Amino acid sequence: MRAASRTCRVRIGPGLLAGAGDVLAEFARPGPALVVTDDNVGPLWLAPVLASLRGAGFVPEVAVVPAGEGSKTLAFAERLYGDLVRIGADRGTPVVALGGGMVTDLAGFVSATWLRGVPWLALPTSLLAMVDASVGGKTGVDLAAGKNLVGAFWSPVGVVSDTAALETLPAREFRGGLAEAAKVAFTLRPDLLAALEAGPERYTSPADGEALGFLVEACVEAKGAVVEADEREAGARRVLNFGHTAGHAIEAAAGYGPVRHGEAVAVGMVIAARISVRRGLLRPEDGARVAALLRSLGLPVALADLPVEPDAGGIRDRLATDKKRRDGRLALVLLSAPGRAVIVEDGSAEEVLAAF
Ligand SMILES: NC(=O)c1ccc[n+]([C@@H]2O[C@H](COP(=O)([O-])OP(=O)(O)OC[C@H]3O[C@@H](n4cnc5c(N)ncnc54)[C@H](O)[C@@H]3O)[C@@H](O)[C@H]2O)c1
Ligand SMILES: [Zn+2]
Repeated sequence: MRAASRTCRVRIGPGLLAGAGDVLAEFARPGPALVVTDDNVGPLWLAPVLASLRGAGFVPEVAVVPAGEGSKTLAFAERLYGDLVRIGADRGTPVVALGGGMVTDLAGFVSATWLRGVPWLALPTSLLAMVDASVGGKTGVDLAAGKNLVGAFWSPVGVVSDTAALETLPAREFRGGLAEAAKVAFTLRPDLLAALEAGPERYTSPADGEALGFLVEACVEAKGAVVEADEREAGARRVLNFGHTAGHAIEAAAGYGPVRHGEAVAVGMVIAARISVRRGLLRPEDGARVAALLRSLGLPVALADLPVEPDAGGIRDRLATDKKRRDGRLALVLLSAPGRAVIVEDGSAEEVLAAF
């Protein structure tokens, strides 16, 4: 478990992609390296990465996969293994993941499994990948039967989050990442929550570098801490599922795609806050702060705000088969105060449905 739980250093700031090669050189010897990216991110951000890798003595080989969740599959993993064979990769040959969470998960999974594990460097370019997917060591691919069904815990040797890369991220994708950041604020970081509430407009675009740096750092720190305490999701790590029970049901019922993950989670957090209030765990005025903040960040807070309204039957079916159920009971992540989460083990699908 050592390799999986090893905590790696995360560097956060504008312009850091130009130093990616030097970071990698601390962990891997010069020679071939496989750079994985997608066809949106490659044209925008490959150049500084390749220049920097070459400058540090690496011989980068680039593999570009089509953008979108559809590339996070065993078929694309196999293509990448083929590229590794072709460049004569051995146990010391590093993989570099340049892109959003899709690329991070796919390239991380290939790194975890190629020759039973080679070093990889994460260069997240979406806000979601910076605050969530690149931290915690989970890698994986989807199957037709479901998302993230095949995977491994395998941490990158380093994470370089170049916040300037977010300037080209579509606004809707940026807001999706903000939803996960708000989740961290509501459950683990009262200081981030206070900052978001004091000036939400500073956080709705990547323009304010100082605000953005603080947000990414707070999320990485908070996720890193709970993951370290609980790598395999038995306890502390579960607070990161706040908003995700209802959120996953919404996403699945809408047919993945029309509703972005972060949008579904935003609505899910409002539902979880409502349940918290109904159970008397959270004061009503504090519950109201959840929807108010999400709205001020430009996120949906009810099914009617979503671009496609998923049908109730689909949501009910999905909740009834939630994989976090135990003995028919649903564990729910709720709030006991703004910035503090509690987990209750005696929830039910009916209770969640009633809060929609
Ligand atoms: N491993 C984990 O712990 C973890 C956690 C959360 C999410 N995930 C995974 O992350 C994935 C979602 O991540 P995502 O939202 O980043 O999706 P994504 O990687 O598909 O990126 C979203 C879109 O933004 C584009 N993009 C990314 N960076 C860009 C940039 N700088 N400029 C322009 N376009 C850019 C991508 O090409 C894509 O079209 C899912 O597969 C999810 O399962 C993993
Ligand atoms: Zn999520």
